[in-house]
Amino acid sequence: MPLCRLIYASRSNDILRNDEIDAILAVSRTNNARVGVTGALMYGSREFLQCLEGAREAINSTYNRIVKDPRHSELTILDFVEIDRRWFAGWGMHHVPPLWSSRQMLLRYGERETFNPLKMSAASARALLGDLAVDLAPPRDDEPRVPTKPMRA
Ligand SMILES: Cc1cc2nc3c(=O)[nH]c(=O)nc-3n(C[C@H](O)[C@H](O)[C@H](O)COP(=O)(O)O)c2cc1C
Repeated sequence: MPLCRLIYASRSNDILRNDEIDAILAVSRTNNARVGVTGALMYGSREFLQCLEGAREAINSTYNRIVKDPRHSELTILDFVEIDRRWFAGWGMHHVPPLWSSRQMLLRYGERETFNPLKMSAASARALLGDLAVDLAPPRDDEPRVPTKPMRA
C-alpha cells in the first residue's frame, strides 16, 4: 500500500472558537493514531488547510469522513501524491501555530493579493507545509503517538 499525502482546503461554515478547533484536533488525533495517519491542520480567519499523510486506504477513508463534516464546506483537494517519507511523523494532527496562518506569512505562499487557500496551487501548498515541517518541534508527550508504519485493520 503506497504512502500518500493529501492536502486540501475548505471553509468553515461558522467562525470557530479555539475550543471547537481543539475538539476537532482531539478527535483527529485519536482516530488518526488508530490508522497510522499523521498531518497538520491550519485554521486562518475562516479557511482550513489540512495535510493528511499515511497509507492510501487510510487517507481515503479519513478524507471521505472529513468531507461529510457539517462544520465546513467547499472542500478542495490541492494535492494528492505518493511520498517516500512523512513530513509530520509522530503527529496525529499538528495544530499549526497562528504565526503560520498570519496574513503576512500566508501571502508569501499565496501568489496573490489576498490569501485564499481554496485557490492555492499545489506547489504553494507543498512549499508552505514543507517549510512548516522543517521547523517543527517533536510532538508533546500528551499527544497520542502515531506509528510510522500503519497497522493492519
Ligand atoms: C477541518 C476538519 C478536519 C478534520 N480532520 C480530521 C482528521 O484528521 N481525522 C479524523 O478522524 N477526523 C477529522 N475531522 C473530524 C471528522 O470530520 C469527523 O467528525 C470525525 O472523524 C468523527 O469521528 P468519530 O466517528 O470518532 O466521532 C476533521 C473535521 C474538520 C472539520
